[in-house]
Amino acid sequence: MSETTSQIAVPTSPEADILAALGSRLIVLVGMMGAGKSTIGRRLAARLRLPFMDADTEIEAAAGMTIPEIFEAHGEQHFRDGEARVIARLLESGPCVLATGGGSFMREETRRRIGDKAVSIWLKADTDIIMKRVKRRTDRPLLQTEDPVATINRLLAEREPVYGKADLTIASRDVPHDRIVDEVIAALHARLCGSEAAPNAVGAAS
Ligand code: S3P
Repeated sequence: MSETTSQIAVPTSPEADILAALGSRLIVLVGMMGAGKSTIGRRLAARLRLPFMDADTEIEAAAGMTIPEIFEAHGEQHFRDGEARVIARLLESGPCVLATGGGSFMREETRRRIGDKAVSIWLKADTDIIMKRVKRRTDRPLLQTEDPVATINRLLAEREPVYGKADLTIASRDVPHDRIVDEVIAALHARLCGSEAAPNAVGAAS
């Protein structure tokens, strides 16, 4: 009896499907400070066997200064211009998972570049989660205010309509990181490979 290779089923996985559908694009995580972009991004990259990059780390390396030092020495506008340049460069890196700083997606030019080169995911976190994760840290200059909760609420009000322009939205909350990563994988698979929508994905932007 003869057997043709076309009849042999090739095992596949959601991760392999996503990689194939991604082509040369990156996966970019956007959202507020404390939303878990770096933590989830690192795990997502490991699952997809892609490199992980963190825009804040790259900005610090390029400047030879920490982010608080850049704010202190040169001000926010200078930081934003450097951030836009670094993200533009990182978007030329080919497939990888890129975590971006919380303010970067607010710049129209950066959003357009991300739209051209990547699939974007908003990790959506509420004030309580953000506060819990950032409260003992001093590395976010924008939150060194008298009333950080009010600052977070103001930033959320300004930013959420813009973060909502990302291709996908996933709710970041206090559950094991791997569960969020599973949801990201399911949402990416649904978006890129046309599978059933992920049950816990908040929804895709139109
Ligand atoms: C900022 C977020 C920070 C960092 C800078 C400004 C913001 O990055 O880029 O402190 O404007 O939200 P993370 O979102 O990684 O904390």
